[in-house]
Amino acid sequence: MKSDRRLLFPYELLEPNWRLWSFIAVLTLGFWALTAFPVAEFARYIDPFYSPTILIVPLPGAFRLTCYAYRKDYHRHIFNHPLGCANADRGESTSRRYTGERNALFQLENFHRYFLYAGLAILPFFYYDFLYSLAFSGGFALRIGSIILLVNALTLTAWTLSCHAFRHIIGGNINCYSCVATGGLRKEVYDKQSWLNKRHEALSWISLLTIFFADLYLRGVAAGLPIDATLLRF
Ligand code: FES
Repeated sequence: MKSDRRLLFPYELLEPNWRLWSFIAVLTLGFWALTAFPVAEFARYIDPFYSPTILIVPLPGAFRLTCYAYRKDYHRHIFNHPLGCANADRGESTSRRYTGERNALFQLENFHRYFLYAGLAILPFFYYDFLYSLAFSGGFALRIGSIILLVNALTLTAWTLSCHAFRHIIGGNINCYSCVATGGLRKEVYDKQSWLNKRHEALSWISLLTIFFADLYLRGVAAGLPIDATLLRF
């Protein structure tokens, strides 16, 4: 398991300070949530938080908040309850008993599988935003911001498609692929998704960073910072 987690991200650098990092992450996201009034569109760049409209942000937001990767982090490192499965008491005390996944928060988190559909539905909009940004100044222009939008779309796609609930949609109702006639193509897709799924935790953080970076970059461009450049023009 350790080697899987190292596939994309050097977790060992963060692990000694997980509590501190979690605290910083919550503070940063909270600050962003309170101050986030991004520019919807500037110079044909559409901010990812407005894709397709800021009104739907609660749905992908709920999809992200209930992601297993974050759930693990906030339950273990912020709430201290429940702790890891290998931990005998799971953070139990007389005031906080572990009752399995039955309390209201767990029930809400279990809606993750439905939030996945919202996450899947908005993915094409991020690619549309990339294509939209290419038609600039009366022609075709590939700018740094367009590449950032494309990278953001790709990381969001990788994170969404590596979701555990998506894994269940693909293979959840078949117990033995090698025993059934439908094993062929479906098994192939399942194997590819499994490869991605092993990297899900890393992808959850990478995609979070890219969406915030894209938002920050577009705000900088809109504020007049000289950070954007045209790389190709026709
Ligand atoms: Fe992380 Fe579904 S488990 S997005």
